[in-house]
Amino acid sequence: MNNLKDKCVVLAVSGGIAVYKAIELLRLLTKAGADVHVIMTRAAQEFVTPLTFQTLSSNPVHTELFNLIAEREIGHISLADRADLFVVAPATANVIGKIACGIADDMLTTTVMATKAPVLIAPAMNVNMYTNPIYRENEARLGRLGYLFVDPVCGSLACGWEGQGKLAAPEVIFEAALAALSDKDLAGRTIMVTAGPTREELDPVRYISNHSSGKMGYALARASVRRGASVILVSGPTCLPAPYGVESVLVVSAREMQAAIMSHVSRCDVVIKAAAVADYRPVERMATKVKKQHDDITIELVKNPDILAGLGAMNQRPFLVGFAAETDNLAEYAAKKMREKNLDMIVANDVSRADAGFNAENNRALLLFRDGSSEDCPLMSKDALAERILDSIATKLSGDSC
Ligand code: PMT
Repeated sequence: MNNLKDKCVVLAVSGGIAVYKAIELLRLLTKAGADVHVIMTRAAQEFVTPLTFQTLSSNPVHTELFNLIAEREIGHISLADRADLFVVAPATANVIGKIACGIADDMLTTTVMATKAPVLIAPAMNVNMYTNPIYRENEARLGRLGYLFVDPVCGSLACGWEGQGKLAAPEVIFEAALAALSDKDLAGRTIMVTAGPTREELDPVRYISNHSSGKMGYALARASVRRGASVILVSGPTCLPAPYGVESVLVVSAREMQAAIMSHVSRCDVVIKAAAVADYRPVERMATKVKKQHDDITIELVKNPDILAGLGAMNQRPFLVGFAAETDNLAEYAAKKMREKNLDMIVANDVSRADAGFNAENNRALLLFRDGSSEDCPLMSKDALAERILDSIATKLSGDSC
């Protein structure tokens, strides 16, 4: 769900080469409907001019603590009060040190000190600064006080060093911003999501698979993290980056997916099987490339294990959510799968139309529940459908624990 719509987000930019990434973050925030107000430190303005941020945010950029025009409403206090979320990106060691020590000597540090909004900090700095015990203590102190962090990533740094210190990708900071504003109704739950296709190899260069892109499963994993769950994402081959905050397990074949699921299932409260598992695999996988010799060849296939049915047959099983990809008799076939695989819920996908289902941006579905009830979800983004599915799961889980 887009919980940034119409929210006031203060984007505080401090000085470092990663300032250019804050421009992309600003774009993502405004695209999601947030009203973004940018604060730039003096050092940040050495890298990018305020005009860039002003143009993209459609709001004046705040650079001075004492601004005669805005002073009638005391600029830093009014911004601090209006903020629903405060994002510091990139955050230098200097700025983080000042915030941790309660120093408020410019627009950024004064406003962050005055706000009651959640504060999300995305550090970027040299690896030796990042590992310096003084910095570590500052970060730990802020963490204890409820400040949220998006860890920097490893790579070659602008200063010439290799190591952890690069600002996280704008998409990752954006995801953390969404999470910071989400209700944590799945906190304390562990959810396993499966996504993508499986590939069943014929030889070293060929395989049997399907059109699943993984988008539906990845949307479910992202939304589960936002809502506070610990998430294990078991994914077949996709082009998608691992979502922020998930434990990602990459597999190729159905049997690998089964092994991964079985090794983690005992710690899961919920399993959501959005993956499109290949029902059959070649009886034999050739060690070398099969040569083109005959006009016709026959490939003998054998059934893959039905992973979901196996989970349904467990004595102590988690809350089980299956998907059913159907081209006809949607409700009837999906209900049959729910019964036969002993599921709590099934998401019936009409994949007969090109605007939804496999490899589409959107999806439509009929949610069927074990108690016979159902809910129709018209065409919507996969992110929105993921939230609807999780709403139902959260309701069922809270009903169980009453
Ligand atoms: O990945 P996208 O491009 O975003 O597309 C999303 C999707 C269309 C793949 C997804 O929404 C979807 O419908 N996934 C299930 C596809 C499927 O395999 O359906 P099925 O009806 O064949 O299988 C029913 C259920 O049993 C599924 O939950 C499946 O994961 C599971 N299954 C199937 C076969 C098997 N051997 N083991 C299984 O666990």
